[in-house]
Amino acid sequence: MRSLIDIQELTTSEIEELIAVSEDIIAHPEKFSQKCAGKKLATLFFEPSTRTRLSFEAAMYELGGNVIGFSEGASSSSAKGESVVDTVKTVSCYADIIAMRHHKEGAPLVASLKAGIPLINAGDGGHNHPTQTLADLFTIKKEKGGFENLVIGLCGDLKFGRTVHSLISALSRYENIKFVLISPEELAIPDYIKEEILKKKNIEYTEVSEMQDVMPELDILYMTRVQKERFFNEADYIRLRDSYILNNEKLLNAKKDLSILHPLPRVNEIAVEVDADPRACYFKQVLNGKYIRMALILKLLEVEV
Ligand code: NCD
Repeated sequence: MRSLIDIQELTTSEIEELIAVSEDIIAHPEKFSQKCAGKKLATLFFEPSTRTRLSFEAAMYELGGNVIGFSEGASSSSAKGESVVDTVKTVSCYADIIAMRHHKEGAPLVASLKAGIPLINAGDGGHNHPTQTLADLFTIKKEKGGFENLVIGLCGDLKFGRTVHSLISALSRYENIKFVLISPEELAIPDYIKEEILKKKNIEYTEVSEMQDVMPELDILYMTRVQKERFFNEADYIRLRDSYILNNEKLLNAKKDLSILHPLPRVNEIAVEVDADPRACYFKQVLNGKYIRMALILKLLEVEV
């Protein structure tokens, strides 16, 4: 039995396989429509979510399965003081697989050790978000054809942005990639990612604070929201929240085949006018996320495909 807590738990060929299954689901949805009949997914969300929770739920329904769960800790017994471990031990009596989002880094890992059924980390605090990374990888594969020889700009809150951490971790296995890390100094990528991933694997990266200067060299621009909920004081958030606002003017010197990604939700960091630009991929990313979560559920439930 396997869970998915960190994107590194998947081998490169397993990622390829998940992408291939996702493509098969898109081409032949009817082949998959009853694959999870009789199975239940539990979505245990202790933090707000639109895309991740609803895409997991849509994914399970499209596989013929059912869904139970809660969308805020306040409506579960955790509000009475129940531990995460007791919660998942309980839920595993009712469900076959769990998707859990929690504000505490490491909570899904601890829960997975006791769950007795596969558990998927749907985001843990400012740490990791492996299924968003699968959606990102699937999108990059579709847009760029592969993961090698790419210059990837990551812009915004690189300190608290869990999607950024997981994406760097995943992409660091491919050849000839370069990261351009664009953030205010206070929201720079954590040292542990530099030490344990970028430096250890000898990956080229630069850290800059201006988006404009680096725009022409990027193949991918991954925008992120400043993570309000992780700040200790509101004044800092207000000062930093509009550090970067991507608009049509800023894209004038970008590559013609740039791909603009964003895990969403966006606040101000991408002007709505950019949505009409063919290089904007963030709503495609949303849809890709549903298909790759379908593939992941099938894999962890060990359903024959
Ligand atoms: C992200 C998250 O929750 O980390 N959203 C998502 O899952 N698509 C990004 C964010 O909230 O900024």
